[in-house]
Amino acid sequence: MIKRIAVMTTGGDASGMNSAIRAVVRTAIASGVEVMGIIEGLHGLLHNQFIPMDMASVGGIINRGGTILQTVRSKDFYKKEVRKIAYDYLLDRKIDGLISIGGDGSRRGLNVITRETGIPSCFIPASIDNDVYGTDYTIGFDSAVNVGLDAIDKIRDTAASHHRIFIVEVMGREHGFLALEVGLTGGAELILIPEFKKDLKISSIAAVLNSGMRRGKNSSIIVMAEGVGHSAALAEKIEKTTGFETRYTVLGYIQRGGAPTSFSRKLGLTFGYEAVKCLLKLKRKRSMMVGMRCNEVVVMEMKSVIGKERGIDAAAYNMNKVFSL
Ligand code: F6P
Repeated sequence: MIKRIAVMTTGGDASGMNSAIRAVVRTAIASGVEVMGIIEGLHGLLHNQFIPMDMASVGGIINRGGTILQTVRSKDFYKKEVRKIAYDYLLDRKIDGLISIGGDGSRRGLNVITRETGIPSCFIPASIDNDVYGTDYTIGFDSAVNVGLDAIDKIRDTAASHHRIFIVEVMGREHGFLALEVGLTGGAELILIPEFKKDLKISSIAAVLNSGMRRGKNSSIIVMAEGVGHSAALAEKIEKTTGFETRYTVLGYIQRGGAPTSFSRKLGLTFGYEAVKCLLKLKRKRSMMVGMRCNEVVVMEMKSVIGKERGIDAAAYNMNKVFSL
């Protein structure tokens, strides 16, 4: 029977992680299980950074962005000989269940721990990138989208006043989920993401901008994922090719901060609650993940999701092209 669990946040922070921590801690305590927090995720695990958590330790955090447990990206954890140290700490602390809240890399880390120690685990997806296979939404995505929208709405005012093209660069090194959602719901004329390489050519970009101008538009917004290149260089190219005055704004880490939206909070609460319920029933060597599919919270076997890549919503991408023909 599981008596003591540990919870950590790993990878990039995402708004709503605190809601998940709150739910994990309070659900575990209500089920008669002790909870330890691991400070700084996998890095903290390698350095024995555990703290006991009680009901009060997660009070007043539901509205706060970031993560009270903090997070450090750890390269060392991926060295087998170093990981053994972490496993001794888990044994010393009598941890018999683990919950990790983070992105795709964090999921891999958790899976390795269960495989090598037998400690059962449950993974909670949280990332502004929304790039975790097995769930339609990750904690923090909706909050980051809304930060992006707020920025686009403001930029549109100045773009229209000055008759300018504006590039808004959003986060997402490897995937364009965030850029697609921000671009579509922000009414961008162009969305540039790594999944659709053909459309990144300057000739294609210029064609869309020129056709808009011919229809009488005096400004255009381009939303671009950071993974497709540098917005400064692209702005220069656009200006040279089309003759339209072009500016750019890099939203950067602003998107990771701020109060979580109600959707990110609710995902955090329900994922945290379900993860504990699921973990407490698990036998050794089992690892699961919670997620949301078609508006329902679901629990799945880690082995059914690990190593798989989430596909981009091509229909949404093509729909946006229709709107800016
Ligand atoms: O957490 C996801 C993310 O914000 C990506 O969108 C971005 O590419 C990356 O993390 C930045 O990583 P770091 O925090 O290590 O600079």
